[in-house]
Amino acid sequence: MTDHVPTIALDGPSGSGKGVVANFLATQYEFHLLDSGALYRLVGIAARRASIALENSPLNEAVLGEIARRLDVAFIATKNPEDPLEITLFGDQVGHEVRTDEAGVDASRVASLPAVRDGLFELQRSFRQAPGLVADGRDMGTTIFPEADVKIYLTASAEARAERRYKQLIHKGMGVNLHDLFQSIQARDERDMNRSVSPLTPAEDAFVIDSTDMDIEEVLQNVKAIVTEKLG
Ligand code: DC
Repeated sequence: MTDHVPTIALDGPSGSGKGVVANFLATQYEFHLLDSGALYRLVGIAARRASIALENSPLNEAVLGEIARRLDVAFIATKNPEDPLEITLFGDQVGHEVRTDEAGVDASRVASLPAVRDGLFELQRSFRQAPGLVADGRDMGTTIFPEADVKIYLTASAEARAERRYKQLIHKGMGVNLHDLFQSIQARDERDMNRSVSPLTPAEDAFVIDSTDMDIEEVLQNVKAIVTEKLG
């Protein structure tokens, strides 16, 4: 018999604060952390490096699915709370490229392809190891870890999310425009919520937190109360 591995599924749209919450919970419980968005971003980056165009549809699903299935990545924990994971792709460090808005848009495009989602399924499941897992994404509670002990769906208005993202990227020294970010978030919501496979939607048994009018401390308090009740 295999031991039960406690799993916290954290889903929601871009800029909802999931990243901060996921890092907080992983640190608090000393659990592994799956940043599934980074995997989709890395598929996009690997495709670009192989000169595969991602702007025009239809995308080459067979090739992109193969890239996903063969993705060779490593997540190395750092001591930096602002950048807790150092990522390598086929042995090379990826750096900030993975966090750019462009990489997010590419990720959302490739993520609409069933072959890419299938290609990343086993890799995502492999993160579920003792002493536990915090899984951050769009379909953690619905598709990848339907058996999760705790499911939280974190959301906020598109305006609030664009503003937060803007501050985050400026803080990281990246040049961005608020209006462009807002439009890109709306386009991404549209794609992520309306795709045919694993669309972004709360699991039936998820706790939904709308953080539009909350600061991060309030969000963390709410999340902590839910997780403590479920996991102790
Ligand atoms: O969480 P993020 O911004 O890094 O995710 C980038 C994109 O990847 C997001 O717009 C949709 C896609 N994604 C997904 O489809 N499923 C996941 N579990 C995680 C991300």
